[in-house]
Amino acid sequence: MSGEIAHADGDAGLIEQRVNALLADMTLAEKIGQMSQVNAGEPDAVDTLGDPLRAGRIGSIINLVNVDEVNELQRIAVEESRLGIPLLVARDVIHGFKTIMPIPIGQAATWNPELVEAGSRVAGLEAASAGINWTFAPMIDITRDPRWGRIAESPGEDPYLGSCLAAAMVKGFQGDDLAAAGTVAACAKHFAGYGASEAGRDYATTNIPENELRNVYLPPFKAAIDAGALTLMASFSDLNGVPATANEFLMRQVLRDEWGFTGLVVSDWNSVPQLTVHGLTANDEDAALAAAAAGVDMEMASDTYSSHLERLVAAGRLDEAIIDNAVANILRAKFRLGLFERPYVDTSALPPPASDEALGTAREAALQSVVLLKNDGGTLPLSQDDLGSVAVVGPLADAPYEQLGTWIFDGDPELSITGLEGIRDLVGDSVQVNYARAMETSRSTSAELFDEAIAAATRSDAVVLFLGEESILSGEAHSRADIDLPGAQAELVRRVRQTGKPVIAVIMAGRPLTLANIVDEVDAILYAWHPGTMGGPAIADLLFGLVAPSGKLPVTFPRMVGQVPIYYNQKNTGKPASPETATLIDDIPVRAMQTSIGNVAYHLDAGFTPQWPFGFGLSYTEFEYSNIRMNAHEFRDGDKLEISAELRNAGDTAATEVVQLYVRDMVGNVTRPVRELKGFRRVHVEPGESAIVEFQLDSSDLMFCGRDNTPILEPGEFHAWIGGSSEAELRTEFRIIDNN
Ligand code: NOJ
Repeated sequence: MSGEIAHADGDAGLIEQRVNALLADMTLAEKIGQMSQVNAGEPDAVDTLGDPLRAGRIGSIINLVNVDEVNELQRIAVEESRLGIPLLVARDVIHGFKTIMPIPIGQAATWNPELVEAGSRVAGLEAASAGINWTFAPMIDITRDPRWGRIAESPGEDPYLGSCLAAAMVKGFQGDDLAAAGTVAACAKHFAGYGASEAGRDYATTNIPENELRNVYLPPFKAAIDAGALTLMASFSDLNGVPATANEFLMRQVLRDEWGFTGLVVSDWNSVPQLTVHGLTANDEDAALAAAAAGVDMEMASDTYSSHLERLVAAGRLDEAIIDNAVANILRAKFRLGLFERPYVDTSALPPPASDEALGTAREAALQSVVLLKNDGGTLPLSQDDLGSVAVVGPLADAPYEQLGTWIFDGDPELSITGLEGIRDLVGDSVQVNYARAMETSRSTSAELFDEAIAAATRSDAVVLFLGEESILSGEAHSRADIDLPGAQAELVRRVRQTGKPVIAVIMAGRPLTLANIVDEVDAILYAWHPGTMGGPAIADLLFGLVAPSGKLPVTFPRMVGQVPIYYNQKNTGKPASPETATLIDDIPVRAMQTSIGNVAYHLDAGFTPQWPFGFGLSYTEFEYSNIRMNAHEFRDGDKLEISAELRNAGDTAATEVVQLYVRDMVGNVTRPVRELKGFRRVHVEPGESAIVEFQLDSSDLMFCGRDNTPILEPGEFHAWIGGSSEAELRTEFRIIDNN
C-alpha cells in the first residue's frame, strides 16, 4: 500500500489505488467486518469490542462519546488488527452536540443557509472533540405532515428550501477540507420518501408516485450529494412496496447509476432484519441478501451481515463483487476523511464545547428561527420603558430541557437559558417579572395551578404565555394524531384572556400545531419551535424589540388536522377553490341541492386555505413590494433570467425580510404545482428605505421531471411572483421558447 497521503480534495485516483490495494489484501471475513457497524453505547465497550476489532470484524461503531475510549478503540483497530483500518465513529448529532441549535425545522425557518452551515459547523466541532467522525445528519426528508413527529428534524415541505439547507448542513459538517481536524462526515438521511409516512405515523408505509418522488422528495438528496456528502442512510420505510433498505431502484438506479454517488450507504438501526418484519423476506439471511444486493454497504446495529453474508457468498447466492463494491465505498469514505493519516482525536486542536462563538451562533440561529404569526394592534414589541410589569406564564417558560427539542443525546440542559431567564436578564430592574408555571408539563390536564397564573396576570401589565409541546412529543416515534396544544393549555389561554391584559403567546413546539382554538384569544404569537440552548435571550430580544422577527414558515400551518396534507406547492386540480366558490358549512342553505355548493376542491368546515401559508412571517415593520422587472420576457434554453423587485420598509423599524421568488409553469406534460419556490434572500432594510432585490435563474432551474420521469425544460408560459410569502401577489410573466 502506498505510504503517500491522499486527502479528499487531493488525488481521487490515488485514493482509488489505495482502496483497491487494500481490498485485494482482505479476506472475505475482513470485508464483511468493514460492513458491520456495532453499538458501542454499552458499558465496557473497550473490553467487549477489543477482540472483534483485532480480528477485523468491525468497520464502525455508534454511540461512544468518550474521546479516550474512542482513541483506544481506534488504536486497537489501527495498531492491532491485521490491516490497520481505522473506524468510523458515528453519532446522531442532529442540531448540536453540547450547544444546541434550534431544531432543524426551526433552523429552516431562518431561511439562512449560511447560518445553518455555521450551526452544523459548531455541532461537528463539538462532536469531534468527543471522538465522533461521522454524524447522522442532515435529515432532509421533505414532509407535508405535521402529525409526523420527525417533522421536527426536517427542513419542512419545500424541495428547494430543503435542498439549500441540505447543502449548507453538509458543508457545515464537512468543511472545506475533509481531512482537517474537526471535520465529521455527513450522512444525508433517510433515503428516501420517509416524510410521506401514511397518516404521519412514524415508520408507516409510503406510496409515492415516481414522478412526485423525483420532483419533491429526491432533490434535497441530490443537493447533499452535490455538496459532497460522504454518506447516505437508507430509510426504515416501505416505498411503493419495497422497503427502502432493499430498494434497488433507489440505491442502484437513482443513486449510483443516475447520480454517480461514490460514497457509502448505511442502513438504519436494525432496518435490515426488519425487512422480514415488513414481509419482504422470510428470515435474516434473506434480509441480509436483499439489503446487500440492493446497495446497503454497511449494516447499523443488527448483525445479519456478519452472521450471513459469508455463507451467502459460499452458497453462490451473493456475488462477492457486490461485497467488494460495498467495502470499496466504505474504505473510500475512510480515506476521504483522512482517517488513515489521522485516526486519533487530538482535543487540543479543537475549540472547547459551548465556546462563546458556539453560543453566539446558537443565539443568532434562535433569533432568526422565530416566526411572528400574529401581532394585533402592534402588541409587540413590548416596551421596557412603558411596561411596569409582565407576567411570564406557562409550562415552557422555564424548562431548560424541553426547549432543546428532540435528539439531544449530548446536549447540556445546564447551558440552556430559558425564556424566563432571558426576560429577567434583559429587563433587569426596569420591569417587574411575575412568573407562574401554571401547568406542571405541557400535557397536564389539571387546572390546579391556574389561580396562581391568573393572579400573576392580574397584577401585570401584559402576559407572555410560554405554550407548546415538551420535547418528547415530537421526534422519532413521537407522532400525534391531534396536533392542538396538548393538555389544558387552551383552557389556560382562555382564563388568562379573561384578565383583559394583552396576551402574547410564545409557542415552543416540534411541529406546526393547529392553533385555531386559541388564535383569537391572544394578541400576538411568536412561534419559536424548540429554540435550543440560547432560546431565552433570543426570545427576550424579540419580545422587547431589540431585533425585529425575521423567521418565515418552512411549512404550511393547517387550521384543522383534517386538512393535512396541505402545502403551498399543490397541483391546481380541475376544480380549484376560490373565496367565491368555497361555501363554508354555516353558509349552506337548509336542504341545499347537492350541486349547489362549491363543486370545488375544499372542505366544508375548513375551507381551502391554511391557518398560515408557507413562507409567511410578520415583522415589526411593514414591507411593501413593487416594480417587478425582468431582463427579458422570452428566454431560450441556456439563457439567464433576471427577476427583480423593489422592497420598501414602510414602517419605522429596521428589519430583515426574507424575499421569496415563486414560479408557475402554466402547462406541463405532467401537471405542475401552482407555485414553486425558486429563490430567496434575507434583506435588511432601514426604515423608509428601499432595496432592489434581484434573483438570477438559469433556464435549467425551470426543468422538472416530466411524464417519462426524466428532466425536461418545456417551452411555454410561466408566471413569477416576488414577495414575502407563498401568497405573494406581485407578478410578472415570461415565456420559454423553443431553441429551434
Ligand atoms: C434511527 C433513526 O431513524 C436514524 O435517524 C438514526 O440516525 C438512527 N436511529 C441511529 O440512531
